Amino acid sequence: MSEGADLGIHPRVALVTGATSGIGKAAALALAGEGFLVLVHGRDATRGAATVREIEAAGGRARFLGADVSDPEDVARLASAAGEVDVLVNNAGFSWFGPSAELDTATFDALFASNVRAAYQLVAALAPGMVKRGRGSIISLDSMAGRVGLAGGAAYGATKAALTAMSRAWAAEYSPAGVLVNTVAPGPVYTGADPELIKQLGDTTLLGRAARAEEIGEVIAFLASPKASYITGAVIPVDGGRTAI
Ligand SMILES: NC(=O)c1ccc[n+]([C@@H]2O[C@H](COP(=O)([O-])OP(=O)(O)OC[C@H]3O[C@@H](n4cnc5c(N)ncnc54)[C@H](OP(=O)(O)O)[C@@H]3O)[C@@H](O)[C@H]2O)c1
Repeated sequence: MSEGADLGIHPRVALVTGATSGIGKAAALALAGEGFLVLVHGRDATRGAATVREIEAAGGRARFLGADVSDPEDVARLASAAGEVDVLVNNAGFSWFGPSAELDTATFDALFASNVRAAYQLVAALAPGMVKRGRGSIISLDSMAGRVGLAGGAAYGATKAALTAMSRAWAAEYSPAGVLVNTVAPGPVYTGADPELIKQLGDTTLLGRAARAEEIGEVIAFLASPKASYITGAVIPVDGGRTAI
């Protein structure tokens, strides 16, 4: 049974992966502010409950769904627990920066499992329902690392470029049925990662600073709103102008 059916009404439902911290949490709060019932996904149930409480304290509605996106069976369970969703935000993932010679194959595979395969699985599971209902929005998190060459970011950047390549193909596949598919490509954002690295990267942007997670979350919420009804197949850089130069 879908979340909407549970409530006996038909709210718009948004599943945000990796919503227990950082950009995902900011997107979850912004989407809840737009009236979505938000399915807050992550691994850490304590931080998940805190995000749900924060949304509820602001007058919104949310529920936590736990799953490890590196495990395909867990991802399948997540898709099934989510039910009918109107908005899917593929945000969960992690980065690895360092000398390419020092990246072991297990970490390389883990990057692609969490950042690429999980999104593919979720879209494969949830987009057909959106097509059937004739509406939906899928927003995936790229990164400026998917566009520009950052020393030490070869594998991570490749996962992000792959996600954007998939998003363009999904736009071609699903948009004729009314499903919007877009990618948001942030520059450096102060979240859980090394703040010194984020600051250094922020210094290279036209605005001379890194972003707050809320500055990305608001763009995600805009793309999920009716205001973005004619945007599909797009990659929206939210990077302080970094990829313009
Ligand atoms: N921060 C940046 O500068 C930046 C820039 C460009 C793009 N991005 C992209 O934006 C997205 C969010 O990044 P962030 O900086 O906000 O990260 P973050 O603060 O580290 O949060 C990552 C989120 O993903 C979840 N997650 C990670 N691995 C998971 C797994 N195996 N299974 C389930 N959940 C998992 C975490 O949940 P739990 O901890 O609860 O498991 C957490 O909610 C990522 O896709 C990242 O590549 C970030």
